[in-house]
Amino acid sequence: MRSRLVVGNWKMHGSIESVTSLLAELQAATSEFPKGSEVGVCPTFVHLPMVREQLASSAIRIGAQNANAQEQGAFTGEVSAQMLAEFGVHYVLVGHSERRQLFAESDATVAEKFLAVQASGMTPILCLGETLEQRERGETDTVVLAQLDAVIRVSGIAAFAKAVVAYEPIWAIGTGRTASPEQAQAVHKSLRQHVAAQDEEIAAGLRLLYGGSVKAANAAELFAQPDIDGGLVGGASLQANEFIAICRTAD
Ligand code: PGA
Repeated sequence: MRSRLVVGNWKMHGSIESVTSLLAELQAATSEFPKGSEVGVCPTFVHLPMVREQLASSAIRIGAQNANAQEQGAFTGEVSAQMLAEFGVHYVLVGHSERRQLFAESDATVAEKFLAVQASGMTPILCLGETLEQRERGETDTVVLAQLDAVIRVSGIAAFAKAVVAYEPIWAIGTGRTASPEQAQAVHKSLRQHVAAQDEEIAAGLRLLYGGSVKAANAAELFAQPDIDGGLVGGASLQANEFIAICRTAD
């Protein structure tokens, strides 16, 4: 049985004051989260130390939004996977569409980052998703499976025993326009079948998150789909009440 996972992606948001109060509210609600489910938050790098301190005795896990695949060196402005692992980071988002589109991350870069995150002992959350034009042309499966294959080719299928995959249609991110539970389920099913064709056991244990305008009002019906194991939540993860309500539905 796959445990449910809800991860908040804070993106480039937060101040010392807002992070402190958001975490205080989340911590106060942790006991209401379904038993056996997992919750994580991905703050900016600059907020990681205070998040770690505030969550020291909490079950909420810490994630990062990006990592450089190199161990160290002359890479001004970058943070390595090793540094994050040493710091106690549990998950790292890899290949988020904003990284692919705004920071020109290629499939090859995404695969390198995936490997580096795993080699450092952390869990990569590999993000995949199609544009609206690609969906309208009927290319959704082709696009997301190609993004998945670009990593599998480099990492091998066995690496997916310790990874999470997030399907995030680009047209649903930050737009308030969520994929319907049926649309999301169809893609999740394709992803799981694709992995199963190479390793059934890994496919059965692989957690597939949906991301793209998840909110309290739509989380329950999305998470009720057989191949949706939780959510990667952007905007709604910055509002304590919304995020808590989403985590409560991850049963
Ligand atoms: P959103 O973002 O929930 O604000 O749509 C999701 C994401 O980008 O991970």
